[in-house]
Amino acid sequence: MGRIFSGVQPTGNLHLGNYLGAIQNFVTLQQDHDCIYCVVDLHAVTVWQDPAELTHNTREVTAAYLAAGVDPGQCVIFNQSQVSAHAELAWVLNCVARLGWLNRMTQFKEKAGKHKENASVGLYAYPNLMAADILAYKATHVPVGEDQKQHLELTRDIAQKFNNDYGTDCFPIPEPLIFGAATRVMSLRDGRNKMSKSDPSDMSRINMTDEADAIAKKIRKARTDPDPLPGPEALDAEGRIPAEAEQARPEAYNLLGIYAALVDRPLPEVLGEFEGAQFSQFKEVLTDLAVTVLGPVGSDMKRLTGDAAYVDGVLKAGAERAREITQPILHEVHDIVGFLRA
Ligand code: TRP
Repeated sequence: MGRIFSGVQPTGNLHLGNYLGAIQNFVTLQQDHDCIYCVVDLHAVTVWQDPAELTHNTREVTAAYLAAGVDPGQCVIFNQSQVSAHAELAWVLNCVARLGWLNRMTQFKEKAGKHKENASVGLYAYPNLMAADILAYKATHVPVGEDQKQHLELTRDIAQKFNNDYGTDCFPIPEPLIFGAATRVMSLRDGRNKMSKSDPSDMSRINMTDEADAIAKKIRKARTDPDPLPGPEALDAEGRIPAEAEQARPEAYNLLGIYAALVDRPLPEVLGEFEGAQFSQFKEVLTDLAVTVLGPVGSDMKRLTGDAAYVDGVLKAGAERAREITQPILHEVHDIVGFLRA
């Protein structure tokens, strides 16, 4: 397989959704792929970020990568703003992408809300920068959560249009890599909403740095329904949760999905194991598992976040390697577009 690129925004409160939906997969992929993992600080500032917090959060996401087991000897780990190719290519792609394409982006509509006129231009152009992230490395595969699928589609359209307009095959058309059981981790308080860093209730999410007692309390109090747990016959032929089943029991399937992702076993197997069990029983097992998996990652993450010199060194070395990869690609793009360079 070719080259993997993915990114996480340094906007604070990293939680189980980030871990299971992204970071855990980054570790799996590094074993047999050329991987580039970015802390996307340029994307973060499309909405207001307190400068000191942004710096802290950039180190914290890096610490999360490292604590989860992403190996800087094997992968390129860096923060986006240290590699100017991202912003430079984004400009060219701004001139390739069409307004009509961006107007269809659901994330912009959600984030801009009612006050669209007040949103930053950067928030609107966000997907073009994401395309630049991926294409500046000629990445072929992009692990993303469900919510980023539309942005990846746009990246493909932009790459396609650039290639057509300039009659080149410069950019490969990147493929999404969507992962198993818990690509969508839902809120513990309401299974119909995504687990989110911005949910006012901290009880709705398990933070990557939560201590064992906090994890236990949140799982104990997690919303459930009165029925015993479903068995594997509730799943479809591919072993996935049918939409109607999920709508009927969102909390049950969310907790089961979290369990399957944490233990790294297929969902049908997990449903087979807990079929007919009461939530109280299941929650105890889930708590033990969550504490076993997340406990060491969380404490390592805290230790590393405190070691700014080490983390900054990792990012600096990663940025150097990233520049080595992107520079010839950016030159190629400039030549294709007709920009004169000495
Ligand atoms: N937009 C992504 C998110 O919010 C983060 C991101 C930025 C990204 N650039 C990327 C993900 C490139 C994959 C590839 O989750």
